[in-house]
Amino acid sequence: MKALAAMALLFGGYSQAQNLADVLRQGEQVFAKSCSAGYCHGVRGNAGGAPRLAGRGFDQTYISNVVTRGVPGTGMAPFGTTLTRSDFVAVVAYVATLNGNSAPDVSDFGTATAAPTITGEAARGAALFKEAVRGFGRCATCHEVGGFGIPVAAPIATVPSSAAALKALAAPNVKSGTIDGESMPVLVLSEGKQGTVFYDLTAAPPVQRSAGPGSVRLANGSTWRHSSAIGAYNDAELGAILAYLRAVVKP
Ligand code: HEC
Repeated sequence: MKALAAMALLFGGYSQAQNLADVLRQGEQVFAKSCSAGYCHGVRGNAGGAPRLAGRGFDQTYISNVVTRGVPGTGMAPFGTTLTRSDFVAVVAYVATLNGNSAPDVSDFGTATAAPTITGEAARGAALFKEAVRGFGRCATCHEVGGFGIPVAAPIATVPSSAAALKALAAPNVKSGTIDGESMPVLVLSEGKQGTVFYDLTAAPPVQRSAGPGSVRLANGSTWRHSSAIGAYNDAELGAILAYLRAVVKP
């Protein structure tokens, strides 16, 4: 995905300014439809029923996180699974410009537009992957595939051969994190001078957290099992989902 985006930048470099303008125009339209409709945010990020979004100094990562996950306990819904990847990137970039960022990163825009045609069992699997009635038990809670879902885990690179293999999946990147004596299974997103950003897998959906430098102790291995995350589906359903993944995941 990254390599593709880099190539697109390389070959499309001459028209980048033009592209950004197009992306922002799309973002403005998505904003009008999804964010400033009804009693929510005002046009162009002014205050509406919901808070003002323009000129608040929000950076793009912050905006992206809030749009993905929503704000629990408020009317701000999570959009990570309801907008297409392109609409998501466009609206986040648009809100970033309202906050003074004239060159938001839109390199992810359009990376998922050339979706293959999916039929039969794979199509059933695609629907199951995102199915809302599974609640946080659906695969899209933690995986982004074909532009849909929240990328808690790294992009799926290898598709297990069977439902049994999917259940027995090892989780080599999940570590045990300890903060203030509290221990939890974590997936680290970044570690640096600023501290550690990670997903706490205790909760459903996993919660993104950050901890100051040196305040989280990490140990390899954890008691977290992928099988505990996929109990919302029976074997036949998992089989259909795997057919979907085989159809869309590029080796
Ligand atoms: C609660 C979060 C969560 C849910 C829900 C979830 N997964 Fe995962 N999944 C993970 C995590 C975390 C990993 C990565 C573990 C690691 O890298 O150590 C993973 C790894 C995988 C992998 C291995 C990817 C690779 O390239 O090696 C596959 C395949 C997968 N999940 C498929 C699914 C499917 C299909 C569903 C729905 C039936 C699902 N997952 C539901 C969290 C989840």
